[in-house]
Amino acid sequence: MEFHHVPVLAQQCMDALAVRPDGVYVDGTTGGGGHSSLIAQRLDERGRLVCIDRDDDALRAARGRLAGFACRIDFVKSNFTEIDAVLRDLGIPAVQGILLDLGVSSYQLDTPERGFSYKNDAPLDMRMDRTQKLTARDVVNGYSEQSLRELIGGYGEERYAGRIAAAIAARRKDRPIETTAELSEIVRAAMPAAARREKQHPAKRTFQAIRIEVNGELSAVQAALDRAVRCLSPGGRLAVISFHSLEDRIVKQTFAQLAKGCVCPKEFPVCVCGRKPQIRLIDKGGVTAGEQELLQNPRARSARLRTAEKI
Ligand SMILES: C[S@@+](CC[C@H](N)C(=O)[O-])C[C@H]1O[C@@H](n2cnc3c(N)ncnc32)[C@H](O)[C@@H]1O
Repeated sequence: MEFHHVPVLAQQCMDALAVRPDGVYVDGTTGGGGHSSLIAQRLDERGRLVCIDRDDDALRAARGRLAGFACRIDFVKSNFTEIDAVLRDLGIPAVQGILLDLGVSSYQLDTPERGFSYKNDAPLDMRMDRTQKLTARDVVNGYSEQSLRELIGGYGEERYAGRIAAAIAARRKDRPIETTAELSEIVRAAMPAAARREKQHPAKRTFQAIRIEVNGELSAVQAALDRAVRCLSPGGRLAVISFHSLEDRIVKQTFAQLAKGCVCPKEFPVCVCGRKPQIRLIDKGGVTAGEQELLQNPRARSARLRTAEKI
């Protein structure tokens, strides 16, 4: 299957990164290489781009798409939480820009056998890194009913998490739940009739929640931001695109903390922690897609780009 993924907020990302032709940049979520190719176009033979992804298929597609650019390009299979180690191994002391375009790619969603989508029938998988042990099947069949309720309610922001978790727990008593179609049908049947008629597919939020859990998506963002900022040279930019409020909240709060520096309690008359601001925020509320982009790429609807500059 061809790797199809339209990069979101493409121009806004390039404005945010303000790519220098001789700079060193990291795409921490390379996917099909859409954003990477836009960065590579702006680099000359002195420039360098490090393309990270934890999905082998994504890196394979990106290698093809990124052949023939003037700059040096390194492809690294890794979690972006390891960005500091990746750069250390490549002998790169600091970089001028880092991009994180969070979540799954259209390719991952649209490839039935990856088991990400409620729209296809496939084994419950949902791993971005297919060498990882934990799969969606393990979560659905192995987590307690209470853990499922918490994760579907928390990561899926699903109102009917209790009913859905109970339905999963009841069904798997007979035999394990194996496929995306089975799970999708269990979720649909557990919801009240009115909710089933909503525009959004009834299983969308549950699938999102399980995917986030399988891939440790929120903990990865939390762990990566601090490290990414430390990898930047002064004036370097970190641009992060998130696709749902839980992710965006982590980005917003972490950026706010790093921009503030001091972590002393408010009642302290003077700072004793000695922490200094590490970043300055660009576009405080973040940037979202304009109407034109939304017409061409509905996936951009929930995307928000936040950018920080290292001080
Ligand atoms: C939204 S897509 C990126 C698409 C890309 N910007 C493009 O234009 O083609 C997200 C990609 O990031 C990867 N990814 C998600 N979380 C990751 C993590 N913690 N570490 C490394 N890669 C990750 C996914 O495997 C996926 O390929």
